[in-house]
Amino acid sequence: MKKFWLLTLSLFLLSTVLLTGCGGGTPAPAATKPSVEAKEVNIYTSRHYPGIDDAIYKSFTDKTGIKVNVIKASGEELLQRIKTEGASSKADIYLTADAGNLYLAKQAGVLQPFTSPALTKNIPADFIDTDKMWVGLTMRARVLVYAKDRVKPDDLSTYEDLTQPKWKGKIVTRSSNNIYNQSMLAAFIAMNGETQAKEWAKGITANFARQPEGGDRDQAKAVAAGKADVAIMNSYYLGQMLSSKDPLEVKAAESLGVFFPNQNTTGTHVNIGGAGIVKSAKNVDNAVKLLEYLSDIEAQQKFAEASTEYPVNPAVEPSALLKKWGTFRKQNINLSKLGEHNRRAVQIFNEVGWK
Ligand SMILES: [Fe+2]
Repeated sequence: MKKFWLLTLSLFLLSTVLLTGCGGGTPAPAATKPSVEAKEVNIYTSRHYPGIDDAIYKSFTDKTGIKVNVIKASGEELLQRIKTEGASSKADIYLTADAGNLYLAKQAGVLQPFTSPALTKNIPADFIDTDKMWVGLTMRARVLVYAKDRVKPDDLSTYEDLTQPKWKGKIVTRSSNNIYNQSMLAAFIAMNGETQAKEWAKGITANFARQPEGGDRDQAKAVAAGKADVAIMNSYYLGQMLSSKDPLEVKAAESLGVFFPNQNTTGTHVNIGGAGIVKSAKNVDNAVKLLEYLSDIEAQQKFAEASTEYPVNPAVEPSALLKKWGTFRKQNINLSKLGEHNRRAVQIFNEVGWK
């Protein structure tokens, strides 16, 4: 009987210790520990394809029970916001276009390194930052868009060929203060060195049909309107024009052809839409899970198709529209280089007078 009471007493004491912690009146450890991650992830994104992106986030939530909260603005505004909010920022993921912009976020110190076996399986190594601060999720090519009635594909070959006198007054592209051209020139610096990159920028500037103005879509429209013969621009803008609701845009786009330059030399320049995990993220595990999902087969098909971009995951085929343009060989460099050479690229543009 005495043994029974001793056993009861020790069980009571043990359960008291377990429930209240060892410090007598102090709170239980479970109550003072940081709470486990909420079943949510907060994404700051500059993508503007609400119907499709929201549907992708919803299927992620259905699969995992993790809610996705989305804040949209321009990439620049969101980066500024993350900086201003500091440690109290709600942002877990920063998603934007161009490896050059992701580099700016990395340099600002607002990202943290991350990796996972699924991410390295789904995403080619060239599209993962060398310090693992961001990953690419969609790919775009900077192609030559030409007037089908005035230019034959055989007339085209490389970015470098466009500096020849025969193209004088026939080339359009946007301003050098845009990150797309900065990243393209940064890639040339990385591959060919500064001297050649500067020669190229100088030669293109000399062949402009007009001073750079407007966005990439405006360059395609200028070629369709006969103001120039060739535009250097991102592939998805032509894809978007072809699937536009505006019949005039479709008509303009149909008069244009797509050419992938440098197929026998250094490859066509490509860039990414991609994402990093914010340094102060409260839901890191959920953020990794969402990026794994976005880089996996199901989401890749829809995510890239929404913007007529290429999937980054090699297991996923491009959309029917992009397949019509054929396959191409891309530049063989890690896209971290685009950010690393950005400053010099901007200087070169100023030196050669590319507005
Ligand atoms: Fe764009």
